[in-house]
Amino acid sequence: MARFWHVFTVRNLLVVSLAINASFILRLGYETIDIKREQLLTGKRAQGEALPTQRAHLPVSTTSSPSSTPFPGSDRDRVINLDHGDPTMYERFWQQVGEKATIVIPGWQSMSYFSDIGNLCWFLEPEFARQVLRLHKIVGNAVTEDRHIVVGTGSTQLFQAVLYALAPPDAEEPVSVVSAAPYYSSYPAITESLKSGLYRWEGDALSFSKEGQFIELVTSPNNPDGYVRGSVLNKSGGVLVHDFAYYWPQYTPITYPADYDIMLFTVSKTTGHAGMRIGWALVKDREIAKRMVKYIELNSIGVSKDSQLRAAKVFEVVSDSCESSSNTTESLFEFAYHLMMERWQNLRAAVKHSGIFSLPEFSPGFCMFKGRLFEPQPAFAWLKCEEPIEDCERFLRSNKILTRSGRHFGVGLQYVRISLIDRDDNIDLFVERLSNIRKDNLCQHMGE
Ligand SMILES: Cc1ncc(COP(=O)(O)O)c(C=O)c1O
Repeated sequence: MARFWHVFTVRNLLVVSLAINASFILRLGYETIDIKREQLLTGKRAQGEALPTQRAHLPVSTTSSPSSTPFPGSDRDRVINLDHGDPTMYERFWQQVGEKATIVIPGWQSMSYFSDIGNLCWFLEPEFARQVLRLHKIVGNAVTEDRHIVVGTGSTQLFQAVLYALAPPDAEEPVSVVSAAPYYSSYPAITESLKSGLYRWEGDALSFSKEGQFIELVTSPNNPDGYVRGSVLNKSGGVLVHDFAYYWPQYTPITYPADYDIMLFTVSKTTGHAGMRIGWALVKDREIAKRMVKYIELNSIGVSKDSQLRAAKVFEVVSDSCESSSNTTESLFEFAYHLMMERWQNLRAAVKHSGIFSLPEFSPGFCMFKGRLFEPQPAFAWLKCEEPIEDCERFLRSNKILTRSGRHFGVGLQYVRISLIDRDDNIDLFVERLSNIRKDNLCQHMGE
């Protein structure tokens, strides 16, 4: 009997304890989701490009499978998150490419820290470098001769490496970092993140009047407004850094091969593989390139070889498709160009129908890569809410559309940035929702 009670107690205690734990875990899960939902609806979030603001379980648009809707039939209430520039529209293309872009890395491969000890950038995989040069040659968007290639964990790391490389280590004052507003929202956040004594964010280049050394960031086409840009500061003591994340023929005509001292590129917006975290810099000056390499050495002892090999394969497929075919379904740039064109046409029609928003207008340019004239069709829509809407981000949020407010880009609340490189179902729903907000029913949409 005593034995029976002993066994009974231990078994039962185990079951009871498991049940309590399970319910606790479930509760925790629900609470986490509720908190995230709360953050979503109140719009409290970080300013970085990719910090996720929602869970896949929520009726929110960033799902892990391309076309799935978490709660089918609930589109009316679905929150559409177009805050981040997450390039998920490219998934469809790469699914169609299939095995051709697949690589297999055996367990014994890519083990050493070193990729090419003879190269100034000793962690640069030679095959990645080869494919970078090949792609630039085919597209014609940058001069690569007499340049050093520095690979980075995304162009985000390269940006930090550039700041480190350009800031004089013995200067009395931190070097000023500026960019013409509206500027990419991550520039101030990254520059100020370490409260460095080497460099300091000084905001809008157009109102910068300080004496001394400065770094001007020139993003062209610009994130967020899509305009092609040049330097705005015409004074001595400055170094220009050109961010060419979007200088690719699906977004803008390639009118000339860019030929600047420091040029940054990223796989994220070229092929859509943001998750690989690979970017590259083309740098003229050997000493600057060396200091950038030093920064990456200190920061992460190089850059993932696996990612570089995967990026090389993806670039190889893109370049092969450009060389062998003009078929719209086989070339990445054709696929993305047509998708962006369709999205901009639909968006402009919705804005026109609505009558209370406006978008930038662009002049067409002759694209040397495509051999024809076309208008820029940027990765982001820089939308302006007209009167009486004062806070555009807040207004759209109350209509379950999450965007990034103009204030993160150094301008006013009338503007928002909206990602147009998200999945089809999200963009379609967004455009439909926008076109249904009109002057005559605005009151209905103003309520929070
Ligand atoms: C202008 C610009 N530069 C840099 C980046 C960062 O790219 P990466 O994903 O390579 O870090 C982005 C990403 O959105 C961007 O828009």
